[in-house]
Amino acid sequence: MLIPPPLSLYVHLPWCVRKCPYCDFNSHEFRGGTPPFDAYVDALLADLDQDLPLVWGRSVHSVFFGGGTPSLFPADAIERILQGASARLRFTPEAEITLETNPGTAEHGRFEDYRRAGVNRISFGIQTFDDATLKTLGRIHDGAQASAAVALARDAGFDNFNLDLMYALPGQTLAMAEDDVMRAIELAPTHISHYQLTLEPNTVFAARPPGGIPDDDLAWDMQERCQALLADAGYAQYEVSAYARAGRQCAHNLNYWRFGDYLGIGAGAHGKLTLGSEQAIARRWKQKHPTAWLATAGTPASIGGDERIAPERRPFEYMLNALRLAEGFTLAAFEARTGLPGDAIHARLAVAVDAGWLHLEGDRVVPTPLGQRFTNDVVALFLED
Ligand SMILES: C[S@@+](CC[C@H](N)C(=O)[O-])C[C@H]1O[C@@H](n2cnc3c(N)ncnc32)[C@H](O)[C@@H]1O
Ligand code: SF4
Repeated sequence: MLIPPPLSLYVHLPWCVRKCPYCDFNSHEFRGGTPPFDAYVDALLADLDQDLPLVWGRSVHSVFFGGGTPSLFPADAIERILQGASARLRFTPEAEITLETNPGTAEHGRFEDYRRAGVNRISFGIQTFDDATLKTLGRIHDGAQASAAVALARDAGFDNFNLDLMYALPGQTLAMAEDDVMRAIELAPTHISHYQLTLEPNTVFAARPPGGIPDDDLAWDMQERCQALLADAGYAQYEVSAYARAGRQCAHNLNYWRFGDYLGIGAGAHGKLTLGSEQAIARRWKQKHPTAWLATAGTPASIGGDERIAPERRPFEYMLNALRLAEGFTLAAFEARTGLPGDAIHARLAVAVDAGWLHLEGDRVVPTPLGQRFTNDVVALFLED
């Protein structure tokens, strides 16, 4: 029996000052003047109106403004989005509301205004504090500006913030990777995301890879050393790339990884929704290009695709998310989220346990350190036959 899980709202804001050469997000350099903020906000609310019948009566537990560079948007635009959303949907009183911020766009007064607009969590795209590497990455800020942006947010009263770091960067040594993590810890964030740089297809880095990218062994050493530094400083790893102080995990991302539901509004945004009455799980995504989406938002033409996740595919999709988590999952959660009986995965679970990838802790299925290293292989076991 499918039971509707917590609901989140993802809002995609697609523009950036400059496109970074490693980035394959749906982000677009805006050339000439300022992006059409007002028209975009109107379009977001029309987009939300169109999706509302899928979530009647449900409450929103978290909102995430992702990008692109959401911090390009002025606070009054963010406020209008939040006011419009809360007029259409019930927000829980403790709802986590995160805004992604590029340190190169931080300026005095901005963070106060974002707080007044209702944002209560900031996620900074720091990447590294090393100035030469920031240049190679095409970033618009240096290390000092990154630290200064965090100080501005803290002064404005934000006590809940994340720093995004990347490792295995061009020319990076183990000591440099450790130094980045230590500098991040000094800024006392509640959360750190630590991503291995990947060369994504259709990016400048994939076409012309920069020299000096650490090999797999060095990348693995970096991840292990940084994980230890973070643990010593009180940041527990709870997902492949996510570390948090106690009680400060990202509620929004946790909901994704626990196979929760989310509405996705804005250019290219994806949503996943449990439809209790139909006993179905729907995925819906929007037109990807901002211009195409803006021209059609709120109409069926803005929908890039709409599909149901077939029951046979649900175990794989569930594992793709849940096995990223250190906590793993319970069979009861699997049943509630997929609508399938636990029997549907017993044989495959047994194979993974025999391989030393998963182990059982009471009613929990938890990835072992080996399983965490080979997540893709474990997840592949659950592909439909
Ligand atoms: C949408 S971006 C975040 C916010 C903002 N656009 C910025 O870059 O400052 C999300 C994060 O994904 C990570 N990321 C992007 N491309 C990546 C890649 N190719 N490999 C690893 N991490 C990547 C970066 O740490 C980035 O901060
Ligand atoms: S600023 Fe962020 S979203 Fe924009 S191109 Fe760079 S990494 Fe991608």
